[in-house]
Amino acid sequence: MCGIVGYIGHRDAYPIIIKGLKRLEYRGYDSAGITLFNAASVVVKTKGKVADLEQIVTPQAKSGKTLGLGHTRWATHGIPSDLNSHPHLSNSGKIAIVHNGIIENYASIKKILTDNGYHFKSDTDTEVLVNLIEYIKTSQKATIGQAVQIALTQVVGAYAIAVVDTDRPGEVVVAKLGSPLAVGIGKDEYFIASDASPFIEYTNRTIYLDDNEMAVISRKKGFKMYSITSDKVLTPKVQEIQLSLETIEKSGFDYFMLKEIHEQPSAITDTFRGRLHVDTQNINISGIEQNKAVFENAQRITIVACGTSWHAGLVAEYLFEDAARIPVEVEYASEFRYRNPVINKGDVVIAISQSGETADTLAAIKLAKEKGAFVFGICNVVGSSIARASDAGAYTHAGPEIGVASTKAFTTQLTVIIMMGLRLGQLKGTIDKHDFDRVAKQLETLPKLIEGVLTCDKQIEKIAREYKDASNFLYLGRGYNFPAALEGALKLKEISYIHAEGYPAAEMKHGPIALIDENMPVVVIATNKGHYEKIVSNVQEIKSRNANIISIVTKGDESVKILSDHVIEIPEVTEALVPILASIPLQLLSYHIAIMRGCNVDQPRNLAKSVTVE
Ligand code: F6R
Repeated sequence: MCGIVGYIGHRDAYPIIIKGLKRLEYRGYDSAGITLFNAASVVVKTKGKVADLEQIVTPQAKSGKTLGLGHTRWATHGIPSDLNSHPHLSNSGKIAIVHNGIIENYASIKKILTDNGYHFKSDTDTEVLVNLIEYIKTSQKATIGQAVQIALTQVVGAYAIAVVDTDRPGEVVVAKLGSPLAVGIGKDEYFIASDASPFIEYTNRTIYLDDNEMAVISRKKGFKMYSITSDKVLTPKVQEIQLSLETIEKSGFDYFMLKEIHEQPSAITDTFRGRLHVDTQNINISGIEQNKAVFENAQRITIVACGTSWHAGLVAEYLFEDAARIPVEVEYASEFRYRNPVINKGDVVIAISQSGETADTLAAIKLAKEKGAFVFGICNVVGSSIARASDAGAYTHAGPEIGVASTKAFTTQLTVIIMMGLRLGQLKGTIDKHDFDRVAKQLETLPKLIEGVLTCDKQIEKIAREYKDASNFLYLGRGYNFPAALEGALKLKEISYIHAEGYPAAEMKHGPIALIDENMPVVVIATNKGHYEKIVSNVQEIKSRNANIISIVTKGDESVKILSDHVIEIPEVTEALVPILASIPLQLLSYHIAIMRGCNVDQPRNLAKSVTVE
């Protein structure tokens, strides 16, 4: 996590860096800092958000500096504090660094440096790295670029770094392993950032560094790229990125989360555009078409993901087994990678990730590839590490998701999964034409149906007012609605800090039912497909224990309605599509409750959008 921004060119660096940091705050927001540079350097940093940093940067510090680095932090080593904030300076004060990632062997390096007279002000691994660079620079009489390169061959961990040195005031050195780093190429100016959003109004020409790549960016010599491990000079690949300013701004909504909830109809349309052809009964996902034999011959599919993306994986398990009759397992990437999973050549591993940077998911992919699996990535962020590490894949095309709680990323992941399920069923000959046609047609109408569901916002706001002070919530669903219940509970807990649990409704009687009383609101997803009668019985069991029931039902439902305290109706669709529709009111419920409790829904405490630590 953490976001880094840098600028070297002819404009004032300060406003570019501050604006860039604000766009990257989704990556971490417990402290922020900046170094600005011409002949002399200044470093200002503080615990808190970028807005707090702005308050303490003096006009003198800002003016006339055309080179600078900034950082917004998500603490790993050391609590959020002024001292632990980045940039970190070397002991001489000459070298400054901003870092996103973790240096795992920092303790042993710190010991060597301490033995050589270095001292440390912070608890961070980053301060160790900048002093290692300085130690190498002075002891080996190296340039800053050489010193960075040698230092990086000695560290274990992950990093995207930008480094400046007052001995070379016209240069920035950047490097990457495991954490993302983009460089925007302007006319005689360069922008450095964790993703391209900080510089899209200046240039769309971007170089994404790959692992083990570094670059020296200099006013005189421009952009020179090298391999960290072999010293080789590399030829950078410049990409034209398609990101508009509008898509990363709030467009009149109070919060990104609300904007992104309302973007779901258009995001889902973008997901299936050009892929779903209802009239010809055809689904064209190029990553599948180019690898048909791999999917046809796969003995099983393993899905690896974290958090919300893992919930999407559960829906895939239900659908792929049902429609394509392929055994599917869904694993938390963080568990999968640390055990010794049985993965054989020819197995398909699907990695699901909005950011495409989640460290555990990335490590799971690496392990799966080592074992000979074919890896298919479902990612939102184009060009992300997971997208690049996969053998093939499908982008969700949801557009930037900036609110930390995933909303449109989830429903667009489900859209890709539904298309994949249909296509795999077609390839395996396990889905009949009629079913394919019915689901495909309904999928095409989903954006319209979601627009309808979004109109229940006011009703949900009222419900939220009634339950905003609850301490616990239970979310229940069966079949495809079980992952939807898990996702509803995660949404509530992460943005409102109310404890919430998702359960398969029938599991309730094996323990959780003991929790139910008049103080426990229960959200039940009880749509009319699947095991409807069974869930009606479950709702009855809850009612007889006096819980308040908020139910999500199919339009026109009678049986669940009479048992419920509040009813939210969604249109009738086939089972596999219900999690998409049911997610909309659940997202809105969490949003309103969190707002009423005074929480910052876009930046919930302790969280970050892109989890690049393990
Ligand atoms: C919850 C949420 C997280 C992410 C998880 C994985 O709203 O956003 O649980 O789903 O951190 O992130 P990605 O999908 O980027 O791999």
